[in-house]
Amino acid sequence: MIATEKGGHVNILILGGGGREHSLAWAVKQNPKCDRLIVAPGNAGIAQIADCADINIEDGCAVATFAEENAVDFVIIGPEAPLAAGVADDLRAAGILAFGPSAAAAQLEASKSFTKEICDAAGAPTAAWARFTQPAPARAYIEAQGAPIVVKADGLAAGKGVVVAMTEDEALAAVDEMFAGAFGGAGAEVVIEEFMDGEEASFFVLCDGETVLPIGTAQDHKRVGEGDTGPNTGGMGAYSPAPVLTGAVAERALSEIVRPTMAEMARRGMPYSGVLYAGLMIKDGAPRLVEYNVRFGDPEAQVLMMRLGAQALDLMQAAADGTLADAQVNWADDHALTVVMAAKGYPWAYEKGSGIRGLDDLPEDSAHMVFHAGTRAAGGGISASGGRVLNVTARADTLAAAREAAYAMIDGIDWPEGFFRRDIGWRALPD
Ligand code: AMP
Ligand code: GLY
Repeated sequence: MIATEKGGHVNILILGGGGREHSLAWAVKQNPKCDRLIVAPGNAGIAQIADCADINIEDGCAVATFAEENAVDFVIIGPEAPLAAGVADDLRAAGILAFGPSAAAAQLEASKSFTKEICDAAGAPTAAWARFTQPAPARAYIEAQGAPIVVKADGLAAGKGVVVAMTEDEALAAVDEMFAGAFGGAGAEVVIEEFMDGEEASFFVLCDGETVLPIGTAQDHKRVGEGDTGPNTGGMGAYSPAPVLTGAVAERALSEIVRPTMAEMARRGMPYSGVLYAGLMIKDGAPRLVEYNVRFGDPEAQVLMMRLGAQALDLMQAAADGTLADAQVNWADDHALTVVMAAKGYPWAYEKGSGIRGLDDLPEDSAHMVFHAGTRAAGGGISASGGRVLNVTARADTLAAAREAAYAMIDGIDWPEGFFRRDIGWRALPD
């Protein structure tokens, strides 16, 4: 509301510095409403379209002060850590419009047992579960249930605190490791879950505390290796829409999982505002919840933003200022696909600092974009500064054409120290 009353000139601050935030900045920037755009901390790609600022994004007071000093009207919070730290609460307390849930509502990602309790209270289908604070009863539970079984550190563990154990021995080892402190405080409590079979897909909805508005579906590839093999990563590629999340499955996910969860959050006095990312396991047309995230996925945001474009800003503002009931998504019948280029060695040890060439000659338009994840400007060029480094993203009328366009862009990138999977989208594109 603040923004629209000003006749459409909004100064925007985005918190984060990965490929997700580059895609958010890219979409927001296309909206004529966007005046000044600042991203903190940003990266080398973001610096080409926005001002970058070096602030501690987990310190809500510092963020609010920075926003006030820079006449920021709207803050979009990208990653989960500032949300769990209460940055959205601090911004709202300072009277600044913010996109993202309160710390209380962010427990839907920050605590697995919190989420399971909410699901149980809401009657939302999910895996059967139990929580443990001691290894002996956890081990006894595993021995009673048998494998396969899933062991999770309760808290935030940078996506690494989940062991899908195919054998009892693996599950017991995971319990011992977690209680021994492998994930620090995140593993002080351990959740053990029934193993769910099916196909995974991600469902993204905006919520303003009351109204729920679906904004897209995606599937990602978490494993580092082709054929979805090898260790888990933050995601090696993604595509949208997810064919398995048909209209009928999405409708069930809304009515059986998402809306009851949102109603339960409101009932508990912690209404949810922001984007809710529901990880679903779908079997025989029935969705069950794997997990919630309280932010856009990375790299799922890259494909969603490429499809939504400028309207993403209007939608996020509507979620933040409580006017989602009046908002609507203008859908195009299109597909987007992103391929992650990572530093050789990722997700284990990798080198930083290698030079990346060829980016300047690639197309950059509403259907082609290389979003930067871990990059920095060095000596007039771009060098790698993280594990996941680039997200090569394309949009087209068909998924096959989007894939072809993304891989054609990769052919133009000269980065011998990087690697990527050649099979992103394979489940949706059998060939
Ligand atoms: P999470 O961090 O909870 O998303 O878990 C990471 C991944 O582990 C998920 O994307 C699933 O592939 C897998 N996973 C988590 N929980 C289960 C479950 N109960 N059954 C089967 N797979 C699971
Ligand atoms: N790509 C998975 C995530 O963002 O959690």
